[in-house]
Amino acid sequence: MQKHIVCGAATWLATLLISGLLPASTVRAQQLDQIFRGYEIAANQGITLNLKGKDWSLVGLGSYLVNTTGCNDCHTHPNWANGGNPYLGQPEQINTAQYLSGGRKFTTPAGMFTSANITPDKTDKPAGLTLAGFLEVMHTGHDPRDPAGDLLQVMSWPLYRWKTDSDLIAIYTYLQAIPSLPDNPNPGP
Ligand code: HEC
Repeated sequence: MQKHIVCGAATWLATLLISGLLPASTVRAQQLDQIFRGYEIAANQGITLNLKGKDWSLVGLGSYLVNTTGCNDCHTHPNWANGGNPYLGQPEQINTAQYLSGGRKFTTPAGMFTSANITPDKTDKPAGLTLAGFLEVMHTGHDPRDPAGDLLQVMSWPLYRWKTDSDLIAIYTYLQAIPSLPDNPNPGP
């Protein structure tokens, strides 16, 4: 898989170079940087990606955005594999067996909430949401499947609502590429 990714990256970069499209501006160079970092994190943590039919650059950028933006903190339970907890000085290893399958419980003044499984369902929809539904959740905190006026209570949407649609589309595309998992069978705080 790792080899495949590196090979894909090289081909992609070569195509850009040959076609003279390699972005000259700092901004675009920065985005390329982020795309490669996204693949580096996925390879480093052993996260299997299904790139079939997906935009390679969106998956890489989405990996960067998801894996450096705290989604794992709340949506993977427990966060780290056995022996992979960086807070204990261990070599960092995300809990790939439950990666983003939810199950972390939060007690709030409004009640108890459990983080959702945001891996793709059988039809490739992360958390079962269409892209439009996902954009609504992230921009407004309202899940279109919930009764009108309901707002997610723990999810950091007041922060994520400011993300651009293009960033959120990259996040959605990445979440389509990660392994589909059943809801975490062992939820906990
Ligand atoms: C502070 C913890 C926290 C963080 C950080 C967080 N989430 Fe959530 N998220 C939750 C919880 C808990 C829920 C369940 C609903 C709620 O908040 O009441 C949820 C719900 C969701 C939902 C709705 C799913 C559904 O079935 O309704 C999506 C989509 C989602 N999160 C995506 C993300 C993404 C993508 C990130 C990172 C960019 C992220 N979340 C970061 C805690 C978090």
